[in-house]
Amino acid sequence: MSINYQDRIPNNVDLGSNRTLQRALEHWQPEFLKWWQDLGPRDFQVADVYLRTATSVDAKGWATYGFVHMPEYRWGIFLADRDPNRKIGFGDNYGQEVWQQIPGEFRAILRRLIVTQGDTEPASVEQQRMLGHTAPSLYDLRNLFQVNVEEGRHLWAMVYLLHAYFGRDGREEAEELLERHSGDANKPRILGTFNEPINDWLSFFMFTYFTDRDGKFQLKSLAESSFDPLARTCSFMLTEEAHHMFVGDTGINRVVRRTLEVMKELGTEDPLAVRNAGAIDLPTVQKYLNFWFSSSLDLFGSETSSNAASYFANGLKGRPDEAQYEDHIAIEQSFSLELPDGSGSTKVEQIPMRNAMNEVTRGSYVRDCELGVKRWNRLIEKAGYSFRLSLPSTRFRRNIGAWAGVPTDLTGRPIGQEQFSAQIGEWLPSESDRAYIMSLMHGVHEQGKMAAWIAPPDRGINNNPVDYEYVRLH
Ligand SMILES: [Fe+2]
Ligand SMILES: [Fe+2]
Repeated sequence: MSINYQDRIPNNVDLGSNRTLQRALEHWQPEFLKWWQDLGPRDFQVADVYLRTATSVDAKGWATYGFVHMPEYRWGIFLADRDPNRKIGFGDNYGQEVWQQIPGEFRAILRRLIVTQGDTEPASVEQQRMLGHTAPSLYDLRNLFQVNVEEGRHLWAMVYLLHAYFGRDGREEAEELLERHSGDANKPRILGTFNEPINDWLSFFMFTYFTDRDGKFQLKSLAESSFDPLARTCSFMLTEEAHHMFVGDTGINRVVRRTLEVMKELGTEDPLAVRNAGAIDLPTVQKYLNFWFSSSLDLFGSETSSNAASYFANGLKGRPDEAQYEDHIAIEQSFSLELPDGSGSTKVEQIPMRNAMNEVTRGSYVRDCELGVKRWNRLIEKAGYSFRLSLPSTRFRRNIGAWAGVPTDLTGRPIGQEQFSAQIGEWLPSESDRAYIMSLMHGVHEQGKMAAWIAPPDRGINNNPVDYEYVRLH
């Protein structure tokens, strides 16, 4: 169905035919806009931003570009088209009809899953709200705002489901999505990573590479859900999510490229010399990577999880790209886990495959993360340097699961707490690393200019030149 832009809330779900729902969402809309004004991008609400907006969910229409004031962005409800032949793809009810309504026994669990996903969307907007001031170029400023408005739309996607399928409880949850705030001492966001501050652009690029990629895998898992409206809304969100990870991937790529240029010019790899020349030394890039990757790993939950097993059994949340597996029931398989044995070593345990679904998803995520690292390393190798970026072990610096609080080195080898404390400053950004990165953060808002710590992108947005005026400031 094409998108109705005549309604106050753009949608392709025939919202106009359900007056009660339409009124409820129109009641939530001003609360959302107030939240956007209060906690969305700070100080750029009157700028004209070159943004894409969906006008239909097919390949032709989902990315239509034009200049928009962010508060006038057409946040709406867009679901991928319904496949009338779609069947449940995994779990105990494999092969049966998907659900258009929620079976009563799964209401509470599905509501929790939708709220948890929904909570991350406005959280990231809140985390990134000050970054406009320090954008390295108008191109980057525009990308930041594109990510922000789309995270706002992802919130709409989840709020629509809450309003449409969960009655009064759903409406209350939708309100609370605007009441919790990232980093708030009393009412924080639900998941840890979404309460971490993002004060600089290196963190922003790491977040969009690693944490938005967690989002990709969560959405892929939910896109397999037997609850068809959830599956369809997550499928469409994935098309938008791709750009967020592109921003992270190319952002880190450009930082590395600039650093290599400076290393060449100076004829040295010395981090201090690189810093003196105003670029970001590669060991510091590695530390930021360690921080955001390890934080994002926790978002997948415990290695062993009876909740994950029941989500799978009941068809609520599947494995990303479930079609890649042969066995969609997964009741006879087991999964081999390496766990801490409590005395500084490891032990191997076999657990039922269904209980290992979090770990299966985390594994797919890690393999996806590695692709970018390989690309960045190719740049370094081509430039003739031996330094390599790498993902730390999934056991490193975990706060959730079997490895939570177990001190390990970057390779995942258990070490003593003392050694861990002594070395953590080499592995994660120290105060002085953060201060250095912050010292580079000066907004470059002049058309055609680029901050000195980052290389320009290979190409602009939507076939426009890199030095296009992507944001018109007033
Ligand atoms: Fe999102
Ligand atoms: Fe995202």
